[in-house]
Amino acid sequence: MSGFSEIDRRTFFAGLGGAAVLAAMSSEAKADALEDFLMQQLNEGVAASQGGSGAKKKFPTMADVEAQIETRPTRRGVGNLFVSNSGNVKKLPPMPAKPTLIDFFNLRFAQTSNHVLQSANRAVQNHMTEEIVLACLLHDTVHALIKVDHGWWGAQLYEPYVSEKVSFAIRHHQTLRFYEDTAAGYIYPDLYRNMFGEDYKPEPYIEANYKFVRNHKWYMEPRLVTVNDLYAFEPGVNPKLEQFVDIIGRNFKQPKEGLGFDNSPVAHMWRSMAMPDHPL
Ligand SMILES: [Fe+2]
Ligand SMILES: [Fe+2]
Repeated sequence: MSGFSEIDRRTFFAGLGGAAVLAAMSSEAKADALEDFLMQQLNEGVAASQGGSGAKKKFPTMADVEAQIETRPTRRGVGNLFVSNSGNVKKLPPMPAKPTLIDFFNLRFAQTSNHVLQSANRAVQNHMTEEIVLACLLHDTVHALIKVDHGWWGAQLYEPYVSEKVSFAIRHHQTLRFYEDTAAGYIYPDLYRNMFGEDYKPEPYIEANYKFVRNHKWYMEPRLVTVNDLYAFEPGVNPKLEQFVDIIGRNFKQPKEGLGFDNSPVAHMWRSMAMPDHPL
């Protein structure tokens, strides 16, 4: 999920009480603990940005972030399905012969589903269009496959099955996360200062893409994904996928052969998520 750095991850697991406690927790309990942690972080971030009480937050520099690279066995851009946060990876439940988007949510998107459901729920509360709600629901799900440049990967994954506006919103939310738009209600997140370093400036390709999107007639589509993304962790809100089944039905062209088996240009991406244990 966007907003959850390696530092956050370490703090989170340490806060839980270590590996033994973690091993004894159900996946639902872990998801709840993660949500609490992110909410707390978000609240602290809001308090700091409002000049609230508490010490000034300390963020890593880009050099600190770079120094962490060789402290990990995996790279930060790798997809959730391909690594474990604690111990070895687990066997995955098998997929049906003709998998639907719902099947991928239930069987492969576990690590991002809570985050994207919260975002989509927020979009509904804010009276967004169905296309924005769907974009929020899908915006980070490609993290199962790959995280680096996830806006572009995610848009490509969904392009054959959704409207152009929805894939535009998914592609460009990545870029717009780096640029404030206070009029639209988007403030640069402290989580990004942690993930990228406080002195990080987006690379030229992101800058160029920002200029393109800022002047585009659909600018507000990805912008509204970022607005509903940032405040996605709300106490006591536990949206379920069932709430969005009708919106998926009206806005997602489910291939009858199943995702991964429809010979679309991105079928291999779905198969890679269905069968991530295949060695080649
Ligand atoms: Fe997100
Ligand atoms: Fe994202």
